Amino acid sequence: MVRHLLSLEAASAAWMESLFRTARALKKNRSHRKDLESRTLGLVFSKPSTRTRISFEVAMAELGGRTTFMRETEVGMGEREEIRDVARTLSRYLAGIVVRTHSQRHLEELARYSSVPVINGLSESHHPCQALADLFTIWELKGGFRGITLSYVGDGNNVLNSLLMGASRLGLNVCVASPKGYGPKPSLIRMAGKAARRAGGALEVGEDPKKAVREADFVYTDVWTSMGFEEERDERIKAFRPYQLNAGLVAHAKKGVRVMHCLPAHRGEEITGAVIDGPKSIVFEQAENRLHVQKAILLDLLK
Ligand code: CP
Ligand code: NVA
Repeated sequence: MVRHLLSLEAASAAWMESLFRTARALKKNRSHRKDLESRTLGLVFSKPSTRTRISFEVAMAELGGRTTFMRETEVGMGEREEIRDVARTLSRYLAGIVVRTHSQRHLEELARYSSVPVINGLSESHHPCQALADLFTIWELKGGFRGITLSYVGDGNNVLNSLLMGASRLGLNVCVASPKGYGPKPSLIRMAGKAARRAGGALEVGEDPKKAVREADFVYTDVWTSMGFEEERDERIKAFRPYQLNAGLVAHAKKGVRVMHCLPAHRGEEITGAVIDGPKSIVFEQAENRLHVQKAILLDLLK
């Protein structure tokens, strides 16, 4: 059966840890390989991207394959043509499809009819490749997850959803602080809380940023207004202002805390320039690790 990566909902700890081991080996030896020789990965994007697009393009090139990039407006999924026909057509040319979309539902429909793996390159509700790269970054720095606390301050968005799903299964302690009405969905809190406890970790979700970062080994934030939510920008800026990751908030965390952000960042909003450019920041390690982890994903799903 064809395997897709649409979210981390069904990702097991064993699968994630095996990806991390592969990614670590690939990172250590970044020579060109031929594993995916003569295979083409399609990228269908409906929103802008720097990291996701380029890291998948370079990943395929370094694994001996190639990519083809299409704007979603060109493909017109569900408008110019039914999604099922796009899926069946693309499956005849491509070894896999990375999709960046405003609709997780469209992504799931595409995957249902695709006979090649479909990979979520960010939807309105999930960003699994990002979360896997972030968790790999933590694993690499700490050598494991036991007893590690990851705190997330900000919007209960696609990035947090995927982090919660992955981190809880891997047994991290996760603390989240979001303004009222902007936190993760109760069903996700229940699911992630249960998974975390089973794996020896814990989950705490609240509204107090200082409390959330108190035990943090890693503090993560992301933009207050994700792509597709621009019309809510003004009200979000008001609601999120007390949640800015600045030197004052970082001072409430452990001394050796590391600061994470998936990028792109809005300096002066969710994070200050001094924090993101400061010595605790590992945001470009995260960005680099997208490449190594996605290579591991491609080898796992496409080979
Ligand atoms: N973090 C991330 O997905 O970046 P891009 O939007 O630039 O791809
Ligand atoms: N939450 C952000 C992530 C961008 C990589 C967004 O969806 O815009």
